[in-house]
Amino acid sequence: MEIPAGLWYNAIFLRHSQRKYSGEVPEEHVTTRIEKVCAEFSPFPGVRSILVREPANDVFKGAVGQYFFKVTEAPYYIAFIGDTNAPNVHASAGYIGEGVILEATTLGLNTCWVGGFFKRESVMKQIDIKDNEQILAISPIGYSKEEADRVGNSAKKYRRKDLAELIISQESKKGKWISPALEAARVAPSAANRQPWRFQIGEDSITVSSSSKREGFGVSRRLDCGIAMLHLELDALVNGIKGSWEFLKYPQVAKYNIT
Ligand SMILES: Cc1cc2nc3c(=O)[nH]c(=O)nc-3n(C[C@H](O)[C@H](O)[C@H](O)COP(=O)(O)O)c2cc1C
Repeated sequence: MEIPAGLWYNAIFLRHSQRKYSGEVPEEHVTTRIEKVCAEFSPFPGVRSILVREPANDVFKGAVGQYFFKVTEAPYYIAFIGDTNAPNVHASAGYIGEGVILEATTLGLNTCWVGGFFKRESVMKQIDIKDNEQILAISPIGYSKEEADRVGNSAKKYRRKDLAELIISQESKKGKWISPALEAARVAPSAANRQPWRFQIGEDSITVSSSSKREGFGVSRRLDCGIAMLHLELDALVNGIKGSWEFLKYPQVAKYNIT
């Protein structure tokens, strides 16, 4: 499917992680649209998203700390599933999953990437996966319990690293599209807000690298980087810059070459 760049780009700045839901079930046309995007947004092989139209009663786990409150009263959730034999599975899952999350945001739904604190065995009672597949992450969808935290109402501020900390090399200062694209990537969500993405700026390209090979919280940093990749591309697209992704080996994740 063609990326709805304008809508998803706007959704970048409306999304935040929401953990307390009202239990209210989204209307049929909303869930149908989510299912369509789950089915059709698949630019990379080996990953897929499924909408689970059942409450995630025994799925989310809690933990103490700033980033890991237990998700409660979500009417539905989305599962992000990867083929463990597929190359680039984590980065692809982040990229594709964030597309579904930004679509949900566009539809007024709250979300929250959850990579560590959920029970895989409970999800597997609600969906079928193949032997070679793994549930890499899930996200509740629904409406925030607090009106003030609903999409469009919330004034939550992102706590993120400065761009200067994230740029590891800069070959060229020519491309006007580069700074805004990096700005959109910078505000991406990541597990425990660790922001593992690093950027190398080329003549007509941006390379996204990962700060470490370690997983941490049971989530690959490459998955976080995949989320940042989509943000970067959305900004480029709204500025009329088209390109394509070339996956690379660690510590690099992928390079966006403009066409
Ligand atoms: C891949 C991934 C996994 C995450 N896992 C969890 C999790 O297990 N539990 C949780 O409460 N939040 C989780 N988060 C949410 C992050 O804590 C959150 O995105 C980050 O703190 C930034 O806040 P924001 O999403 O509101 O911008 C995860 C986020 C990402 C991207």
